[in-house]
Amino acid sequence: MTRVTRYEHGSRVPGWDQAADLDKDPAGVPDPALVSVPAQLRAEIEAAMARYPDRHSAALPALAAAQRLHGWCSPEAIEQVACVMRLTPAYLSSVATFYDMFELEPVGRHSVYVCTNISCSLRGADALYDAIEEAADGDPQINLRHFECLGACDIAPMVSVDHLYYGPLEPADAQRLIDDLQAGREPIPDLALARLRSADPNANS
Ligand code: FES
Repeated sequence: MTRVTRYEHGSRVPGWDQAADLDKDPAGVPDPALVSVPAQLRAEIEAAMARYPDRHSAALPALAAAQRLHGWCSPEAIEQVACVMRLTPAYLSSVATFYDMFELEPVGRHSVYVCTNISCSLRGADALYDAIEEAADGDPQINLRHFECLGACDIAPMVSVDHLYYGPLEPADAQRLIDDLQAGREPIPDLALARLRSADPNANS
């Protein structure tokens, strides 16, 4: 039987429990003269802000753009976003630490999120996770994580690989998934949600 590993607080996902440093001076809105922001990132953030009446609403797409560029929401990435959005780094950190898909530490190039919530668990997600972990064998480029429901229970057990969905998977598919990623190929294309045929024959092209 597969043993479900859990963090100290009881969840299978790490959560965020970093204490605030109350002795540190609060960081203000960064001075644009002191912060260098890559032109492409600045353009993406400004385009996101232009879509909303209140610039705060662009925090998610702006942080996502910074994460794509830097690989994670590093202090430098957050400072660049804060500089363009004219917000404090603390405001953006509070957003980044709330949402699971923002990385708060450097991670591998490929995200592999295995849904281990109820529907996927009932269909063998824990054994699938173990098989993927064994296949990845500690490869630092594979950012393997448990995830709570990814909203695709109809293809349980499923994984999100680099933000595309695949399923249903068997533990036997794990090695192929990792081999494809390591070889730079599209992973397990036959299990891609994007290629599943619709129940409505007229919707298939
Ligand atoms: S429980 Fe896995 S996608 Fe919903």
